Amino acid sequence: MSVGTSSAPGAARPAGDLAELGIDPDDLPDGLVVADEQGHVVCFNAAAARITAVRAEEALGQRLEKALPLEDLEGRRWWQLTDPYGGLAIRIGQPERNLLLPGGREVLVSVRYVRTEPTGPVRRVVVSLRDTEARRRTERSHAELIATVAHELRSPLTSVKGFTATLLAKWERFTDDQKRLMLETVDADADRVTRLIAELLDISRIDSGRLEVRRQPVDIGAAVGRHIQAYVAAGQPADRFLLRLEQPLPALWADPDKVDQVLSNLLENAVRHGEGTVTIDVTPSASPREGEDAGTSVTVSDEGAGIPEESMNRVFTRFWRGSKRGGTGLGLYIVKGIVEAHGGTITVGRAPGGGAEFRFTLPVGAPAYLS
Ligand SMILES: Nc1ncnc2c1ncn2[C@@H]1O[C@H](COP(=O)(O)OP(=O)(O)O)[C@@H](O)[C@H]1O
Ligand SMILES: [Mg+2]
Repeated sequence: MSVGTSSAPGAARPAGDLAELGIDPDDLPDGLVVADEQGHVVCFNAAAARITAVRAEEALGQRLEKALPLEDLEGRRWWQLTDPYGGLAIRIGQPERNLLLPGGREVLVSVRYVRTEPTGPVRRVVVSLRDTEARRRTERSHAELIATVAHELRSPLTSVKGFTATLLAKWERFTDDQKRLMLETVDADADRVTRLIAELLDISRIDSGRLEVRRQPVDIGAAVGRHIQAYVAAGQPADRFLLRLEQPLPALWADPDKVDQVLSNLLENAVRHGEGTVTIDVTPSASPREGEDAGTSVTVSDEGAGIPEESMNRVFTRFWRGSKRGGTGLGLYIVKGIVEAHGGTITVGRAPGGGAEFRFTLPVGAPAYLS
């Protein structure tokens, strides 16, 4: 802990209350800097050292404006500007503000002036520092998301506009077959936009933590069976799929629609990006996370080229696509979001046959009154 001894007579211990709670200032996630009555730094916690890149030993005992030389965005010296120890004796601090550290690094700063009597002298200046890097990363990723979405929406819409404009302008010049082909493309592109929008709504729910899981008993083996039947009905050979159910399976409480979405994405990927037989193993699992209930694992593997080792940690990110075979690259991101909303986990690896292998585990998820 980096709390210096204060020279101020009769001053309270800088971290008295925290210490009584058994909390070390170094445990705080935000930077904490405290200056005493004379403006000398008496506390400079680990997060403050990390954010400012100044070692606590260097900061302790220094004057606040030297240890923490903040400037506002116009380059004015912040401590001179706000004058915490002077000014009106009713001021209680400074609201959160974006300031600059030496070297131009941005930091979110809020300040409290602590007085022992309501209008008495300032006994402590308490500064909280927050790194804006994480926030800027999210902002950057939002900007990237918008750019990608705009791009993804534009290409099908360009094609829709192109074909409809051509058909309207030159309707008589095309044969029925040509017209049909163009309309089929328009139809497929419209489907693509609709699907993209549905996926984006899922993503927004996942990212904002609003994805609702409505649990009810789910027979996951039967659900996989239905997906296989749908593929076979759509023309895939029946022997392309192998379903292996290990019995007995624990009763699973999950959101059936969302489990369907997970299965449909993984199977579609195996069929579209993979090759050969798609094997689905449903097994009871010890526990998705240590110390938790048992659950059910589903492994989907194929015999295609698989996912290159160096890309494995990227498959679950938004818009990542390894191949050019259609797809928005959002499927696995949503799959992971759904699995995690159920308290489960998902991993990717290499199948024994060489293809991709996705395995997700859902905890039993039974309501408390049943377990
Ligand atoms: N079974 C698989 N075999 C090979 N590659 C796969 C498999 N499943 C997923 N991938 C790769 O992961 C990428 C991301 O998958 P996904 O998020 O579902 O997006 P999409 O299917 O829309 O491309 C795919 O583009 C593909 O390159
Ligand atoms: Mg997919």
